[in-house]
This record gives sequence, structure tokens and C-alpha cells, in this order.
Amino acid sequence: MRIGVPTETALREARVALAPPSVARFTRAGIDVLVESAAGERAFFTNDAYSEAGAEIAPDAASVYANADVIVKVAAPSAEETESLRDGQILIAVLQPLTSHDLVRGLVGRGVTSFSLDAIPRIARAQPMDVLSSQASVAGYKAAVLAADTLGKHLPMMTTAAGTMPPARGLVLGAGVAGLQAIATGRRLGAIMSAFDVRPAVKEQVESLGATFIQDEELQRAQAETAGGYAREQTEEERDRSQALVRRHVGASDFVITTALVPGRPAPKLITREMVEDMQPGSVIVDLAAETGGNCELTLPGEVINYRGVIINGPVNVPSSMPVHASLMFSRNVQSFLDLLIKDGEAVIDMDDVILRDSLITQGGEIVHEATRDAMGAPAA
Ligand code: NAI
Repeated sequence: MRIGVPTETALREARVALAPPSVARFTRAGIDVLVESAAGERAFFTNDAYSEAGAEIAPDAASVYANADVIVKVAAPSAEETESLRDGQILIAVLQPLTSHDLVRGLVGRGVTSFSLDAIPRIARAQPMDVLSSQASVAGYKAAVLAADTLGKHLPMMTTAAGTMPPARGLVLGAGVAGLQAIATGRRLGAIMSAFDVRPAVKEQVESLGATFIQDEELQRAQAETAGGYAREQTEEERDRSQALVRRHVGASDFVITTALVPGRPAPKLITREMVEDMQPGSVIVDLAAETGGNCELTLPGEVINYRGVIINGPVNVPSSMPVHASLMFSRNVQSFLDLLIKDGEAVIDMDDVILRDSLITQGGEIVHEATRDAMGAPAA
């Protein structure tokens, strides 16, 4: 069994799917690891570090694809990389199969056995493999740091001979994994934090971080949560009520971090142009939902704009801006997934295991993932 780690080719992708500590675990267990030369460079993991962990260094991507049984990646393969995959080869990456239809067709055409890390069910046993959580946590931290860096104010209260500066007020919209980490980071930096989420279940978590949960009793009764623990799309009435609630708090905040997502849907618009106009000049919005359309009406993905003195930052691929820890965490997730998949040095796809079953997308020239088949309007396998 040989695991292959190619260099990520997506624009501005600095992460690597397996870091040296995970490589060492596999090589000690007698599993070979083949790493493309410089695959870890942008995350500051050198070829030497991989060699010391027992990996073999391949001169180029082609030799990784040609000689590995299992390819592990962060981002989905490009069309060209998909062409390098072969029949029966296993691919593990974040494929976003529900929306990446050409990719899925490509993998079917090549006969690849593909697993998508973002399709792993969010059950307790799968937590060590949950890349959505590990990378969201990195993004939440970084969003708070970006807000602090952009704001022309201190976050903590400062009592100095030159006067007393009040603490900054931060608001987080969407208190999932990223939002909670943004709250914790804002608090550590000394800001007064509050948060809003359509799922009232997060109130306790928000409060346990020392932040205020802003709420509306009607909304709380509505419980906008699905059985899987994700938010569902709000009804029009719920949307109006939460807009009114959010509006009151946005205007009073120095910085707002938005992270609200609804799986499979464009990001809900929570901050309107009028709300931005209510904010004080110098206030900051960091919109972590920029990639899926943004939670703020004015967000431009990948850009920082100044709208009437309010700075609106719509960063994309935020985890890649912290490539060391983001890769180490991603790598631990991949390692845990491989531990489940590999038995006695062989990949064994146990379809009775819900984690493997739910994350298996294509196999033997078929789409085996039901939700992907439905999303693509493909006939049953
Ligand atoms: P996410 O990234 O899908 O969404 C971020 C947050 O935005 C969520 O808290 C969501 O409720 C909120 N949101 C959506 N629409 C909104 C709106 N209109 N206004 C305000 N907020 C809105 O969520 P994430 O962080 O991936 O996790 C969601 C939940 O999934 C977790 O809090 C947890 O309950 C569950 N989960 C379970 C895990 C496990 O057991 N293995 C691991 C991770 C998450």
C-alpha cells in the first residue's frame, strides 16, 4: 500500500494534505508514503522533514499519480489531475460533489474510487476526521485577527495616561464552529462580544465563551435547525424578524464577523446596504461566507472594500492563509480517515460503516453517493 501526496495546484492553495507527523505514523506502520517534491513547501514542511518521517520524495506529480494506490489532496483535482488518476485508484479530498458535477463525471470516467471528506457524517465518531470543523475553526480565529488588524481601535479597554479607551464591540453572525472560534478569539483580544444564530441550541455555547447571545423569543420557538444539527433556510417571516434583530446590533458594533451558511444553498444575506450605512465610519465587517455569495449584500469575494468608511473584507480560502496549523489539522483528519479505511495494509471499503458509506462518491465507474446522484439527476447505480 502506498499513499501519494501531490502538491496542491489550486490558485493560492498553500496547504498540504499530509504533514510529516502523520507521514511518520504511516511509515512506522509499514505503509509507504510518496510525497511530491516541495508539496509541503508553502506550509513550511520541507522535503527533509518528509524524508525524516520516512517518506519517499517523488520528482513530480506524474510519478505520484503513477505509483500511489491512494491519493490524498486538500482541494478537488483539476481536470488535468483527474486525467492522471487511474481505474481503481483511491482519491481522498474535499470534492464538494453536490455542486462539482464535471469533476464527478470525470472521476466516473476514470473509474476512480473517490471519497469526499466534506461528505463525512457529523457524528461523534467522525469528529477526528471532520475537515469542515478543523478548517472552520482556523478560519474563525483568522477572521477575528483580520478584524482586529483592520479596526483602527484597540480591542481591549486601555487605561493610559493619554486617556481611557473603551473596549471594542464585536458581533458574530452564525455561531457554528467558525463563529464560536471568532467569539473566543475576540474575547481573548479583549473585545466585548455578542452573537446571533438561527439555531437557539448554540446560546449556551456562546454564553460559555463569555459572549452575549442576542435573541428573539419568537425565533427561538421556531427552532431553525434540521435533524442533522445544521441550520435550515428561514421562512420569510423568520427572516424579517431576524433582520430587525440583527439591524439593532450591527449599528452598535465596531466589527462584525459573519459565518452563516446553509448547506447546499447560497449564504443567507444578513447585512443589507442600509445596515452598513447605519455603522460608524471605521467599523469593519469580515465576511467568511464570501465564497458562497457573502452574508453582507456589499461583500466582494476576495476583496477588501471601503463603503462610506466601513471596511468590508470578503476573504476566500482563509484556512490557506494559516497553512501550518491548517495543514497539521487537515492531516490529522486525513490520518484518522485512513486509519478507518486501511486494514492490515489494504484499503477495505466496509459499506456497513456509515462514515465510509456516506463519503464514498464514485466507484467502479458509477456514482454511488445517492445525494450526488440526485443533485446531478443521474439514474440509480
Ligand atoms: P455551518 O458552517 O453550516 O454554518 C455556520 C453557522 O451559521 C451555523 O451555526 C448556522 O446555524 C448559522 N446560520 C445559518 N443561517 C443563519 C442565519 N440566517 N442567521 C444566523 N445564523 C445562521 O455550520 P458548522 O459550523 O459547520 O456546524 C453546524 C453545526 O453542526 C454545529 O454547531 C453542530 O451542531 C454540528 N456539528 C456536529 C459535529 C459532530 O458532531 N461531529 C461537528 C461539527 C458540527
